[in-house]
Amino acid sequence: MWSSHAFTDSDRTTARPFFLIPTLFLSLPTPPNPGGERERERERERKRVCDKMAATGAFSTPISSTRLPVSSYRTPTGVPPFSISIRSSISNRPSTLSANAPPADLPLRKIPGDYGFPFIGSIQDRFAYFYTEGCDAFFRSRIRRYNSTVFRVNMPPGPPVSADPRVIALLDAVSFPVLFDTAAVEKRDLFTGTFMPSTDLTGGYRVLSYLDPSEPLHAPLKKLLFFLLSHRRRSLIPEFRRAFGSLFSSLESDLSKQGKVDFGPGNDRACFDFLSRALLGRDPADSPLGSDAPAIIMKWVLFQIGPLLTIGLPRIIEDATLHSFRLPPALIRADYNRLADFFRESAGPVLDEANRLGISREEAVHNLVFSICFNSFGGMKILFPNIVKWLGRAGGRLHTRLAAEVRAAVRSNDGQIGMRMIEEEMPLVKSVVYEALRIEPPVSMQYGRAKRDLLIRSHDAAFEVKTGELLFGYQPFATKDPRVFDRAEEFVGDRFVGEEGERLLRHVVWSNGPETEGPTVENKQCAGKDFVVLVARLLVIELFLRYDSFEIEVGSSALGSSVKLTSLKRASF
Ligand code: HEM
Repeated sequence: MWSSHAFTDSDRTTARPFFLIPTLFLSLPTPPNPGGERERERERERKRVCDKMAATGAFSTPISSTRLPVSSYRTPTGVPPFSISIRSSISNRPSTLSANAPPADLPLRKIPGDYGFPFIGSIQDRFAYFYTEGCDAFFRSRIRRYNSTVFRVNMPPGPPVSADPRVIALLDAVSFPVLFDTAAVEKRDLFTGTFMPSTDLTGGYRVLSYLDPSEPLHAPLKKLLFFLLSHRRRSLIPEFRRAFGSLFSSLESDLSKQGKVDFGPGNDRACFDFLSRALLGRDPADSPLGSDAPAIIMKWVLFQIGPLLTIGLPRIIEDATLHSFRLPPALIRADYNRLADFFRESAGPVLDEANRLGISREEAVHNLVFSICFNSFGGMKILFPNIVKWLGRAGGRLHTRLAAEVRAAVRSNDGQIGMRMIEEEMPLVKSVVYEALRIEPPVSMQYGRAKRDLLIRSHDAAFEVKTGELLFGYQPFATKDPRVFDRAEEFVGDRFVGEEGERLLRHVVWSNGPETEGPTVENKQCAGKDFVVLVARLLVIELFLRYDSFEIEVGSSALGSSVKLTSLKRASF
């Protein structure tokens, strides 16, 4: 799945880190002088409102996880497929979700910010977001301006692509989790934010990612994806090692010839080969698709989320075209049909399962295209270079610890890699993956529409939200909230090791839910959550089985980071 914001390296190095904003700016107005009767009455009124809203369930309430215990690799449909291997030991709920009433001293505050003049306001905000400020600075400057991590703002693309760009931004670890609460927010057609790409790009269907759990097809389609991810589970690790072993061999050879090598294109090929062979049992090389899939998917994604990207054209031209109009789906139809044909021909057992679940074969085909090409390939295309980037930057000492852990575990298991062994014997590998997902969540923006009047809390205040208002969370500001994480802007490889570290996992929410909970047919948590964590761990394992250390150069790209390897030091112990 794709991030709607292209992280650029310059975002991170030149923009002022969120945690450096003086606490002065983050602390909201102090409660009024307790000596005055009028102020005391106002306080009592605030409390009455809060109590009333809490009593009527207006607060974001804990998600009732219906995650089932999984005691073997047998994975019935409807149950997330890999729970056995990578479930966290933490069972308590995030503190951010558990409180039903704000502390008595939390002031009720009107949501600051405004949307400006119709049309003009949203174009101004869009220009600032993409060009004059840049994404992170855009949010940071408004936190300072409004002295609040919750405020009103227009989100791109705005008109004419999206009819209504007005949102309430949630930019801290306390307010953000309301977006996971499907009792409080509706997620219908909000996967890409304030606009939805044409269904002509997905075979005429509204695919699962756009469905709210209250819609009848949400549950069967999510069950189908649980089946997809689990029905060939024994081939996951071997196929991963095959695809990524061959990637690293070719990277080594190119590096020795050229002195540096781009990780991206080879990673794209390896990801699609792995996904097809592991999930469908079909090698794309033996199909009419050949090696064309990554390029086709890139184009197809541009047609869907172009209005949210910057691709390096001159500002005015890019804004007047890419951000202002939808690319006509007819231009990509022939390519898309090649993808759909591949899935139609290769996904027999999954399509049979779809029939059993009451889903038409055609609807299943287009959902498979989306979940494998957009959700899975897209997510890995962003996450894997991110992992290589953060590990590369972390340097030799962390590399040596990872190599020692990985090799000791694999040796003690007769050279084999298994899910249980990863879970039990590789705490540092697990931690670095969570840390990469925390510091740079690959899908950075989530949306939800208030189903009823809500009272939303930040660290410092409570805010009333009306039914129908659109809530928007920029996840990096929640997962790098300095009031939750120490050294929040730093990559701390062993942050999640040990009991203390594991307790923090509830604040890692890359999957649209806490890491300590799992996807179900009732929630909107990523169907591939456990799969993603598994393949990310396999990437780290593959790296440190082969190499003692490596070095990188980092640049930016329209989607994620561009990482070049400049040295790979072969395993010496
Ligand atoms: C790095 C990889 C991935 C990331 C970062 C990621 C992230 C996310 C996020 C943030 C959401 C919630 C979006 C929203 O509603 O606002 C989501 C939903 C979803 N993801 Fe993933 N995802 C990844 C990989 C996968 C994979 C491998 C699958 C496999 C099939 C998948 C399938 C889905 C589906 C179907 C939904 C919608 C769930 C529902 O409707 O209940 N994702 N993902």
